[in-house]
Amino acid sequence: MTSAPARRTAGREAPAYQLAHGAVRPRRLRRTPAIRRMVAETRLHPAELILPMFVKEGLSEPAPLSSMPGVVQHTLDSLAEAAKEAVDAGVGGIMLFGIPEVRDAIGSAGDDPEGILNRAIRRLREEVGEDTVIMADLCLDEFTSHGHCGVLDETGAVDNDATLDRYAAMALAQAEAGADVLGPSGMMDGQIAAIRHALDAAGHTDVILLAYSAKYSSAFYGPFREAVDSQLSGDRRTYQQDPGNGREALRELELDLAEGADIVMIKPGLPYLDVLAEAVAASPVPVWAYQISGEYAMIEFAAAAGAIDRMPAILESLTAFKRAGADSVLTYWAAEVARELRREPA
Ligand code: PBG
Repeated sequence: MTSAPARRTAGREAPAYQLAHGAVRPRRLRRTPAIRRMVAETRLHPAELILPMFVKEGLSEPAPLSSMPGVVQHTLDSLAEAAKEAVDAGVGGIMLFGIPEVRDAIGSAGDDPEGILNRAIRRLREEVGEDTVIMADLCLDEFTSHGHCGVLDETGAVDNDATLDRYAAMALAQAEAGADVLGPSGMMDGQIAAIRHALDAAGHTDVILLAYSAKYSSAFYGPFREAVDSQLSGDRRTYQQDPGNGREALRELELDLAEGADIVMIKPGLPYLDVLAEAVAASPVPVWAYQISGEYAMIEFAAAAGAIDRMPAILESLTAFKRAGADSVLTYWAAEVARELRREPA
């Protein structure tokens, strides 16, 4: 028996954790910041943080979002400036969402080379060159007059296969504008295959597909609806997954892999860490998580009310994604946290 535990337990009966070969004391590894740093199992790195950004057509200055304090809808100019700052902070990449001035039933602005999202991709490519990874949301909901992620048939239902043609057209426009990564987020069956086929046929064989493999129909998307001026009434339950279904996520994952996904993603984030961990166990390609607008809002508003300590809560939430196995996380705090990590490297 070593002397220190013996001294601490002197005069008392040996506690249960007192073993024949010495006390088992996990707290030894927690005693000082240096020891804790040495044994940390999970570290955050700026390159694993991806910043989603919004750009809106027709704005003359950035417009703050009331449901996402600190996040704005950008003009093309303010987008370029903020993107450069994020790149300097070391984020892994930028995911762009565009909000058009004019919408129609088939989301024409999505594949128009002069549509706001495609212009933003070109602008960022010019501004940052190859210094970062430029990603684009590949979905119709921002561009349709009805706010659904696909086109509708005569009964008003989302028409899966007609939507695939629209996604293929959008993919070509985004690839031609210079996007490195396309993020199909519409949950249509066969979307990865359709987009991959269209890209290959046009010679865009290097474009990376980030598959939103399991995207749940979530109440936590609320603030995002403000961010993209969503036109949706109703819900997306005929294409996004039921929050209670875990096994189904693995089926979606397998299909996306078979169709040619390069990276897969689980969304939302914190309420779905079990699904994330299972995807990590099953996937041979990187698995990402999306810490969505509602998750952002919950921490921001709770911190503003004095209920929680803001930056520790943010870092803890991001650490939880990494602990569950995420390779990268899309988070609206990406640039701020990247700067924070540079101040205090793990
Ligand atoms: C659809 C899309 C959504 C989000 C990202 N892509 C909204 C939805 O599915 O309703 C949500 C992101 C967030 O809430 O932060 N294009």
